[in-house]
Amino acid sequence: MSTDQQPSRSVLSRRGMLAAGGAAILGAAGGFVLASGKDASVPTTSAPPAPATSPPPTAEPGVPAAPVILPFYGAHQAGVETEPALFQTFVGLDLISPTRKNAEATMRLVTDDAARLTQGQSALADTQPELALNADRLTISVGLGHSLFERIGLADRIPEQFPVIPRFRTDAFEEPWSGTDLLLQVGATDPLTLAHTLRMLTKDLSTLARVRWSQPGFRSNAPASMGVASRRNLMGQVEATHFPAPGSEQFATVVWIDDGPDWVVGGTVLVLRRIRMLLDTWDILDRPVQETVMGRSLSTGQLLGDGADDGVSPFDAVDDNGLPVIPADAHIRVARADSLEGVMMRRPYNYDSGMHKGTNDVGLLFAAYTRDPRTSFIPTQRRLARGDAFQRWISTVGSATYVLPGGVAEGDFLAQGLFA
Ligand code: HEM
Repeated sequence: MSTDQQPSRSVLSRRGMLAAGGAAILGAAGGFVLASGKDASVPTTSAPPAPATSPPPTAEPGVPAAPVILPFYGAHQAGVETEPALFQTFVGLDLISPTRKNAEATMRLVTDDAARLTQGQSALADTQPELALNADRLTISVGLGHSLFERIGLADRIPEQFPVIPRFRTDAFEEPWSGTDLLLQVGATDPLTLAHTLRMLTKDLSTLARVRWSQPGFRSNAPASMGVASRRNLMGQVEATHFPAPGSEQFATVVWIDDGPDWVVGGTVLVLRRIRMLLDTWDILDRPVQETVMGRSLSTGQLLGDGADDGVSPFDAVDDNGLPVIPADAHIRVARADSLEGVMMRRPYNYDSGMHKGTNDVGLLFAAYTRDPRTSFIPTQRRLARGDAFQRWISTVGSATYVLPGGVAEGDFLAQGLFA
C-alpha cells in the first residue's frame, strides 16, 4: 500500500471561492495521497462488456431489434459481468419464518423462476404471460445477507470473505435501507418487463419472504454516438472510467471468489450503498470547483491536467501557483487503489425518489462487487470518510451487504451446497 502521505492542500482552501454555501464546506480536509502515476497505474479500463448469447441484429430504422437473451446457467450469476441494464432494482427481503427448510425452498423457487423469466418464458402460474416475452437483457441475481445465516442457524457457514461492514464517520443511515436476509437484483431494458418480473418473484415468494425495501435505479440511454453521455450520473459526472474491464482476467481476479465452499466459488460480495446527492449545495459550486473536488473534467471525464503535452503525469502536475492540479483530497485521488487487491467493480445506478425535506431525493445506488471487501471496499471507504473533499456533497443513507452465490447448472438451485 502507499506510504506516500503528504500534508494536503484541500480542494476548497485552494479555490476558496464559495460564498453562500460556506458553512457547508468548513472543516479540515485530511489529505491522503495515493501512489502517483498515470491514469493507468492500476491497469483498469472500460472495455466492451462480456458478449451476450444472441447479439442484437442491426435494427432497421423504426424496426426494434430482437431482445438480447442473457444466459442464466453458468459459472457465475448474470447481472455482474454483463453490460449494465438500463433499469435495475434491488429488493431486500426477510424470511417470514426463518428455518433452513424455508431458506432452501426460497432458493429453489427463485432459481426456477429466474431460469424461466430471464429466457423470456413466463413463470409457473403467471397470469400475464405476455409480459414475460420481452426479456431483453433481463438478469435476476440473488444474494444472501448476514441475518439469513444467523436466523437459520448457519452463522458458522458465513464465508470469511463476507465480513460485517463497519460504520464510517460519514454514514448517516435512515430507515429502511439496511441489510436484509435476501436480495433480489433484477436488471432489464424494458421497465414494464422489470415491473412484471419483480411482481412474479415477490408474488411467488409471498408465503416465504416479505419485502422490506425496493430500490429502483436507472442509467442514461444516450446512444453510443453521444460518447460518454450514457455514463453520466445526476451530477453530470462521467462514471465508470477507471474500473476492471468485464471479460478480462483482471475482472475475474477482482470480482469472483475462487476459494471456499462450492456454493460460494464463482460468487462475489455485493456492497450496496444508498448515497444521496446534496444537490442544493453542490449546484452553487462553480464548475472548476466541482471538477477539482472530483479530480476529473466534467465534460470529458478525463483526469484534470491529462492531455497536457508536457509529459508530466496528471498526478504530478501543478498549476501556476505550484499547487497540484488534482488535489490530495480529490475524490478519485483518495479512492484510487494502489494495488489490484484494493480494486473492486463499481456498477452504480442513479435513483430519484421524489422529494425529501423540500428538496430532490436523488443519488446513487452505489453497487460494488468484490471478492473480498476487507481489502477493497472497507479500506477505500475508510480513506474516503477521512479525506475525500466530495463527502460534503453526499450522504450515505443506506448500506446492505450480500454474498452472491456462484452460478448454477441446469437442475440445481442457487446456494444448494449451503443446505447440504
Ligand atoms: C454519490 C456517490 C459517488 C459518486 C457520485 C462518485 C463518483 C465518481 C466518479 C465520477 C468517478 C470517476 C469516474 C470513475 O472512475 O468511475 C469516481 C471514481 C471512483 N470512485 Fe466514486 N463516487 C461515489 C461514491 C464512491 C464510493 C462510496 C466509493 C467507494 C467506497 C467510490 C470509489 C471510487 C473509486 C475506487 C473510483 C476510481 C478511482 C480511480 O482509480 O480513478 N466512489 N467516483
